[in-house]
Amino acid sequence: MPEQSHVPLLDLKPQYQALKPELDAALAGVVESQYFILGPEVESFERNIANYCGVEHAIGVSSGTDALIVAMMAMGVGEGDEVITSPYTFFGTIGSIVRLGAKPVFVDIEPGSFNIDVSKIEAALTDRTRVIAPVHLFGQMAEMEPMRSIAREHDLLIIEDAAQAIGAKRHGKTACSIGHMGCLSFFPTKNLGGFGDGGMIVTNDADYASIARQLRNHGMEPKYFHSRVGGNFRLDALQATVLNVKLPHLNHWHAQRRENADLYRRLFTQAGLVRPIEDLLSGDLSGGYVLPAELPGNHHIYNQFVIYAEQRDALMAHLKENQVGCEIYYPLSLHQQECFRMLGYAQGDFPHSERAASMSLALPIYPDLSPEKITRVVEVIASFTH
Ligand SMILES: Cc1ncc(COP(=O)(O)O)c(C=O)c1O
Repeated sequence: MPEQSHVPLLDLKPQYQALKPELDAALAGVVESQYFILGPEVESFERNIANYCGVEHAIGVSSGTDALIVAMMAMGVGEGDEVITSPYTFFGTIGSIVRLGAKPVFVDIEPGSFNIDVSKIEAALTDRTRVIAPVHLFGQMAEMEPMRSIAREHDLLIIEDAAQAIGAKRHGKTACSIGHMGCLSFFPTKNLGGFGDGGMIVTNDADYASIARQLRNHGMEPKYFHSRVGGNFRLDALQATVLNVKLPHLNHWHAQRRENADLYRRLFTQAGLVRPIEDLLSGDLSGGYVLPAELPGNHHIYNQFVIYAEQRDALMAHLKENQVGCEIYYPLSLHQQECFRMLGYAQGDFPHSERAASMSLALPIYPDLSPEKITRVVEVIASFTH
């Protein structure tokens, strides 16, 4: 098979090659300094992310999962508290709630955006609800305005899980700037990815910021004096320096992903393969696909380009046979995971999440993906369909 016809799901090498001199020099600078944990690179990266997100405070941590854990610890979330979120997300969203002894309470997704259906939140509230944790899945923000009204009315906190949505916007507001705290991940596959794990908590609340800053370093302040029990949730200088080099390019990479999404839309349409969301809901896509919807007011940054396909598993096998990378995010709604059986949910409780888990498929969308490769992806899908 010629190289041209191989389309990986993600290829980070072109990005590294383009920035190699700058990245290598920055990494060498950290090595020369021998200053590896927190320190000036992390501080400058925190300032840069606060500016980028339009918030006052940013606290670098060891991963997106740890950002969620530390944010909830800073809010005092624990035993007896309930956190409302959606079950169709990466495990870390829910694992972090459970690890703190709190209880995740699921609300189904809105199928067009894959995000929490805000109209169903009020029905899930109890007198134990403390936090709403919307996930801005695949790079598109959840409907934050009605959520904020609900939070205000019921005195709840909002933590935005923006692990997949750095720089996404809704009605001009950036992800992480709306809730009480926001959490980012710099896992290498994210739009802003490090050379390893990394994460960030952002907030406009000075108290939460100062508690989170202590908690990420064993609750220590000043050195060797501990007013809280935190942990080692620190971001390291090598990651911060890589991310500082990459950050100025992030909006350009978002734009490239958005262009790729547009090209997919054009090519799927030309091939007669696009079906409306109503066909998905009525259970008949008749040889077509539902493409990701960008909801009104949203600026999607396409961390993933996820379609609905009727014969998803067979399509996936066909794409792989033809050397086109694809992935299922996620094959099981989290209410059905074995380790969350104690939550007492059953199959059928969240039909939209369950449908997404059985029909969704992510196609390549990374910034350096060429139009030829996108054309190839659609051709391979058309050859499966017709
Ligand atoms: C929605 C969501 N939440 C949380 C996380 C956790 O981030 P990390 O992998 O950096 O711990 C991820 C990333 O994988 C994610 O996609």
